[in-house]
Amino acid sequence: MASVTKYPEPKEGDGVLLRLREDYEQAVLDLFEADQDAKEVRPALEVVGLTSNFLNNMRLPVHRWFRYSAGFSAEWVKWLLAERDGSDLRVLDPFVGSGTTCLACDEMGVQSYGIEAHPFVHRVAQAKLSYATDPERLISKAERAFAFARKAAAQTEHYPEIIGKCYGLETLDYLDRFRQAVEVEQDGSPEAGLLWMALVSSLRVVSEAGTAPWQYVLPDRRKTVPPSPEITLHKAVQMIAADIRFMARRAKPLATLRVDDARKCATVPDGWATLVITSPPYANNYDYADATRLEMAFMGEIRGWGDLQETVRRHLVRACSQHVPPNSVNLDEILESPELAPVRDEIVPVCRELSSVRLERGGKKTYNNMIACYFLDMAQTWQTLRRVCASPSEVCFVIGDSAPYGVYVPVIEWFGKLALAAGFESWTFEKLRDRNIKWKNRKHRVPLCEGHLWVCG
Ligand SMILES: C[S@@+](CC[C@H](N)C(=O)[O-])C[C@H]1O[C@@H](n2cnc3c(N)ncnc32)[C@H](O)[C@@H]1O
Repeated sequence: MASVTKYPEPKEGDGVLLRLREDYEQAVLDLFEADQDAKEVRPALEVVGLTSNFLNNMRLPVHRWFRYSAGFSAEWVKWLLAERDGSDLRVLDPFVGSGTTCLACDEMGVQSYGIEAHPFVHRVAQAKLSYATDPERLISKAERAFAFARKAAAQTEHYPEIIGKCYGLETLDYLDRFRQAVEVEQDGSPEAGLLWMALVSSLRVVSEAGTAPWQYVLPDRRKTVPPSPEITLHKAVQMIAADIRFMARRAKPLATLRVDDARKCATVPDGWATLVITSPPYANNYDYADATRLEMAFMGEIRGWGDLQETVRRHLVRACSQHVPPNSVNLDEILESPELAPVRDEIVPVCRELSSVRLERGGKKTYNNMIACYFLDMAQTWQTLRRVCASPSEVCFVIGDSAPYGVYVPVIEWFGKLALAAGFESWTFEKLRDRNIKWKNRKHRVPLCEGHLWVCG
């Protein structure tokens, strides 16, 4: 049996939290007892509720189906919910990503609404939120798929270059046959989505090239013995079935999930949310469109990086320079937008400085455009949040500040101002950690931080 690291000593009055801890201890035992070989994923839940990164989620049922490094800790979300009276809670996550907030709400019996604009990531979240189904139906579907894959003829010539870098012929041959089987099994049922999830969650595991914790594929870093795709897929199906069994006893599907744009929240009724828990894209040049390039290329949704603009990036908040190449926007016009009035005196000099600094740098990245467009998009998001939030309500953003080319951008203060201008009453910031202070090879030396921005009213 896998050994479980004990939680911190309980404090008096920890009722709900204690129940949570016991639940998770049991969950981990159930899962890992069933999988004696999973030495690389030993449970270690000593920091329940205290972290805001996705890694711990990889030890939790359902959350672990897809490693979305952009995500935050499900335990932390539950911690927030456990601290509040659940009867009146309606939680919105307008940047729900892989569905962490909604799943955590289901586990706590709280209604939630999740919005995600990245179509592939939305599909992942949708599959994860399909946990309320019969595991036996999933297993039968998977058995049919394995039988189909055994007999199918592989067609591997059409795959884009990135796929050739990740898989040897034998692996790709099997993956393609299983992909065909998954397509044949698509009938709109939750189990079809779960089978798709099993395939998608196996793709990086069986890659012969290294895949970094972020999105990147590292063709030069080869794994010595990549695992067999057939065994990996069997394990993925078993893991999903085990998690579904677990969830049947512990969670109720209450969440609504939509492909929508946080800037508009067109599908969310006015005054719906009493609590917003979210992590928007940071203004730090991370390209979410690229986060699923390998998976989308394998599933035939893109041929390469060039297709990401049309299929994904154009739907997202403009948080990286790839969104706003030179001449794609009129910077002066953006800076004149009425939505930016609350921060105009500060953002204009920052963008002007970026306009000149970028010309001295090799990459000449369009951080000037990016910062202006990012705050315009987020100003619209704050106005929309005011519409969809009840009065009073609370909003918690997991967010960090930014310093492209070393030019400091006070994201937290500007968000606070935009929130107040949108009609919220107050804001505070709880710093969780410093960023950009450790590494010798950092691009600039401006100290940054990350934490929780709380907006109320
Ligand atoms: C920091 S991640 C959130 C991850 C999430 N907390 C989780 O645990 O998976 C931000 C997400 O916002 C999404 N996003 C970006 N622009 C958006 C928009 N305009 N509307 C909705 N979602 C958007 C990105 O695709 C990304 O998945």
